[in-house]
Amino acid sequence: MPADHRPRLLPLLPKTNTFGRSAVTCRYRCGDACSHEVPNTSDNQYFGDVVREVLDRRKLLKAGAVLAVAGTAAATVGSGSAAAGPALQSHDHGTGLDFEPVAPNTEDAVVTARGFDQDVVIRWGDPVVPGAPEFDFANQTAAAQAGQFGFNNDFCGLVPVPGCRDRWLMVSNHEYTTESAMFYGYDADNPTREQAEIAWAAHGLSVVVVEAARGGGLAATQDRHYNRRITLTTAFAVAGPAAGSKYLKTSADPTGTRVFGTQNNCSGGVTPWGTILSGEENFNQYLANADAVTDPVAKARNTRYGITGGASLRKWERFDKRFDLGQEPNEANRFGWIVEIDPLDPRSTPVKHTALGRFKHEGANVIVARDGRVVAYMGDDERFDYMYKFVSDKKVKKGGSRHAREHNKTLLDSGTLYVARFTGDSPASEIDGSGRLPSDGEFDGAGEWIPLARNDKSFVDGFTAEEVYVFTRLAADTVGATKMDRPEDVEPSLRTGRIYAALTNNTDRGKPGKEGPTEINPRPANKNGHVLEVEERHGDNTGTRFSWKLLLVCGDPASPDTYFAGYDKSQVSPISCPDNVAFDAKGNLWISTDGNALGQNDGLFAVPVAGSERGHVKQFLTVPHGAETCGPVVTDDFVLVSVQHPGELDGASADNPLSHWPDGGDSQPRPSVVAVWKK
Ligand code: FEO
Ligand code: CA
Ligand code: CA
Repeated sequence: MPADHRPRLLPLLPKTNTFGRSAVTCRYRCGDACSHEVPNTSDNQYFGDVVREVLDRRKLLKAGAVLAVAGTAAATVGSGSAAAGPALQSHDHGTGLDFEPVAPNTEDAVVTARGFDQDVVIRWGDPVVPGAPEFDFANQTAAAQAGQFGFNNDFCGLVPVPGCRDRWLMVSNHEYTTESAMFYGYDADNPTREQAEIAWAAHGLSVVVVEAARGGGLAATQDRHYNRRITLTTAFAVAGPAAGSKYLKTSADPTGTRVFGTQNNCSGGVTPWGTILSGEENFNQYLANADAVTDPVAKARNTRYGITGGASLRKWERFDKRFDLGQEPNEANRFGWIVEIDPLDPRSTPVKHTALGRFKHEGANVIVARDGRVVAYMGDDERFDYMYKFVSDKKVKKGGSRHAREHNKTLLDSGTLYVARFTGDSPASEIDGSGRLPSDGEFDGAGEWIPLARNDKSFVDGFTAEEVYVFTRLAADTVGATKMDRPEDVEPSLRTGRIYAALTNNTDRGKPGKEGPTEINPRPANKNGHVLEVEERHGDNTGTRFSWKLLLVCGDPASPDTYFAGYDKSQVSPISCPDNVAFDAKGNLWISTDGNALGQNDGLFAVPVAGSERGHVKQFLTVPHGAETCGPVVTDDFVLVSVQHPGELDGASADNPLSHWPDGGDSQPRPSVVAVWKK
């Protein structure tokens, strides 16, 4: 991209469940994933073997036999880019992080470090597309919502508007809907068609042009050219090796190449070519009547993705048969992908990239390797699931020309998909579950990227390449992938090439029949999560060997089971359930949290990863009670955070709101993007 498109690097900033998340959040966001049996029952051999065994037996048995199956930014700013960091002041040890940490709290407010201002950039229901009506909570319609900012925004990324110094395309994911908070008197057993259609329109993504506001912060505009809503009814093209797969064909799409909508878009990343990647995460909860799927292989595959049971939570199957697996069994396979949106081309058809595998994608973040190929790092956010990377076949084309961009938008369609295996370097006897460091002083070790497939070639016994891509979890089960504590954002630092992964929690670790502590996931009943640092061998992001260490073992610093890279724990902020990560221009890591298990509000934290300040975690802001902090964007001018599900606490509803953020008074809470800047 031309230099004038680059982000300016200016001085910016001299009652809950066991996870700290409310039951209502668990229900609507993840379909109560944590209350259900862990979908990964592999040992890692078992589950794949079951499916393979069924397939083998099938070859032997005649059709109709009944089979029993056991168990049944180079030029961009965003969470994926090297933007800049706050507070380039003295007394900051060169980290730029010269702010007093925010104390833990339970305020119904965004609380920032002293000396900073804040403002809401956009809220649920604010008009996005020109002509969309102003928000009217009590009289919402699907048509209005389709032009307005969606619900529960998670990821946020910025792409500079070409030729404009102070204008960006802000892209937000709308992860899920909480109908009980969206509609007065919502009857979960009898939703109306209009409520369902409002929810479809409240999912997806928003593209909004924002501009630097007088006095600081950002103002949303209703730009006629770029502003766009993508919803659960927007047409997507399927690309990559599984496009047209028999597993993706439905009666509405006999080609298996065209899918309406994207859902449960959680985190994401900004690519170096100025597009947005977005992860389809807990898509399983939207699909009904998995129990009507009788094919044992299909059933086992669904189970591995947490797709089970009868009616869905939101009952959309009553209004569109595609959500009814009894009628459209392949619809499940059309979600769980990384999607790519080109905000600079508002008429472009967004794409589902099958080469990046199908799982509960948290997000994807891209780095350009030394040889010009691109590497995407990804997490599968489920207890005991895996971390992945993708290495493209083709090299990135530099420059912002249309030709270069169109080429770069195909980079994620051919390449090699890998899953991670981690090995600790300390004796197992020293990983005793207490969180105590082993005698070599670190939770650390080595690792390997295990290839799963490259285009039409499978590297997994018993799986075709098509099956690897569509049923990636099952393929990874068979190759010895390491079971992790819910991998959320996995993001490379564009300064160092090192990769940082938020492992948010896993209270099932060490439960009877489940894997216990390992060096990389060292605590049983892991409530507070940890942050992993990976360094590829010789700094080559395309390689297959790496070393790793835990940067943070999160929780109360006063607790002996926490670790802050060896930093003096009396000086750090408590941090729990790391979720999204981002970097500033000085290379500091910024971490947002989801589900603070320490009884306080979630927040945004900054931590240097190098030098004497490595591990010095400081809380920069907190979000209102019941909300999670996500989508951080950190530039030298401002910080953006998504405030997702404010007031989503047990007992809360539209008829009994337990937050009045951001509008105050007796208003309904509204998920929003907030800008923070130095006064
Ligand atoms: Fe939607 Fe993995 O958090
Ligand atoms: Ca060690
Ligand atoms: Ca997340």
